[in-house]
Amino acid sequence: MATFQKQIKKIGVYTSGGDAPGMNAAIRAVVRVGIAQNLEVYGIYQGYVGMVENHIQPLQLRDMANIIQRGGTILKTGRSPDFMKQEVRTKAAEHLKSHGIDALVCIGGDGSFRGAHALWEEHRIPIVGVPGTIDNDIFGSDKTVGFDTAVNTALDAIDRIRDTAASHDRLFIVEVMGRNSGFIASHVGLAGGAEEIFTPDGNTTVEKAIERIKDGIVRGKTSSILITAEGQKPGRAYDLADAIRKKSGMDAKVCILGHQQRGGSPTAADRILASRMGAAAVDSLLKGFCDIMIGTEGERLIQVPLDVVTKQEKKNQMDLISLANILST
Ligand code: F6P
Repeated sequence: MATFQKQIKKIGVYTSGGDAPGMNAAIRAVVRVGIAQNLEVYGIYQGYVGMVENHIQPLQLRDMANIIQRGGTILKTGRSPDFMKQEVRTKAAEHLKSHGIDALVCIGGDGSFRGAHALWEEHRIPIVGVPGTIDNDIFGSDKTVGFDTAVNTALDAIDRIRDTAASHDRLFIVEVMGRNSGFIASHVGLAGGAEEIFTPDGNTTVEKAIERIKDGIVRGKTSSILITAEGQKPGRAYDLADAIRKKSGMDAKVCILGHQQRGGSPTAADRILASRMGAAAVDSLLKGFCDIMIGTEGERLIQVPLDVVTKQEKKNQMDLISLANILST
């Protein structure tokens, strides 16, 4: 694990990548713990975009009022493919130095952490990461900030769909977020009683889904819900509905939940996780640790080197999908 000697006086905090409910709670924890430890805290707006464009402002205790319950991020966020270029990172580092910022807390996903790791490697700017993404796909942390809220938002929608599916004896395909990740799909699939769950890393097929729906009908089922992660192409649920229609003649209604899963007030679990992680990030910097992410192992907070976080892939919990299949018979 990397360490540094310099005594820090000013830290910067930013959110980067897709927003996630609970990011505000993490910002609040960083600012309030930082100020309590006599640090000056600066907000960097729109993630790496603001770092490169010098959109950096001091944050005060009162700027954090009434944000713990708000979704989104008061610092705004963005995706910055430009930050892959070394000369762009150098410009960002110069801006940070011009404000006297000694260290950073990055709240985001693995792309954001790759940028953070590069800033440490190239410019020796100490950084600690807080995993914030609804996808829960960050290696080294059981849970990410925003995942619990997104699962509950999607589940609420699925429960409503179940009401209408049951009333009309219909088959529904509900598409949840997750470009490369099936965590939301597997969790809402189990919690929502889905008949079949499609994930980017799963091995189910249209044929298996049709067989399960037909078996259910024989046993007296009159409605079914399939869950799919969006995968590389949002709208995948329509392709699945087409394939099911062509192969079985069954009609399926499609519901794509989309970006509503990214918004909304964070659950208690996300607020607590974000608050603990934000506080631990500042604490780690004050103890001279950097180039790490704060993760969870069960209830425990852990420190994981960014190099490990960004190079390894977190595997989905396939046992949840197997259990959902058994329980939805
Ligand atoms: O934040 C993660 C995520 O929601 C993925 O699940 C999704 O595929 C992607 O972001 C969509 O991102 P955007 O539409 O904001 O580019």
